Amino acid sequence: MLIRYKKTFEKIAMGLLSFMPTEKDLKKLQQTMKQYELDEHWQLFLWKEEDIIGLIGIVNEPDCLMVQHISVNPSHRHHGIGKEMVAALRDLYPGKGFVPNEVTAPFIDKCHQCKNTEGRG
Ligand SMILES: CC(C)(COP(=O)(O)OP(=O)(O)OC[C@H]1O[C@@H](n2cnc3c(N)ncnc32)[C@H](O)[C@@H]1OP(=O)(O)O)[C@@H](O)C(=O)NCCC(=O)NCCS
Repeated sequence: MLIRYKKTFEKIAMGLLSFMPTEKDLKKLQQTMKQYELDEHWQLFLWKEEDIIGLIGIVNEPDCLMVQHISVNPSHRHHGIGKEMVAALRDLYPGKGFVPNEVTAPFIDKCHQCKNTEGRG
């Protein structure tokens, strides 16, 4: 299930964020985490099963949600968790459009295609 980021999840969140190609540099990663903690429009969610194994980060704009970060623990990839996180976020913000940035576009576009062909969400 999707849960909101809290400071107690900082380490696991940083670990998951570091799988993003744009977050390899520690300073950049720390800046990104700070922005998620301080900027009310930047919202970070974690995917919890037995453990926390996924992360999705958005900027909540007035007219859309921009998906900035999406990451799944490598041991749990290809089991549909990435797509489930996107679907859960859609359920949380019904009616709000999803826009990827250039880093998340390949996967988010794929989710849009699934939604269109499977009639999800
Ligand atoms: C992208 C990511 C979150 C997908 O998570 P996941 O739980 O494995 O995804 P799902 O199991 O829901 O979906 C798997 C599908 O997404 C596709 N996919 C995985 N990574 C992808 C990517 N970077 N771009 C486009 N499609 C991707 C797989 O090929 C698979 O396709 P299929 O359904 O046709 O077989 C995960 O690979 C990841 O954490 N990558 C590192 C971080 C990253 O690069 N994020 C930005 C991605 S654009």
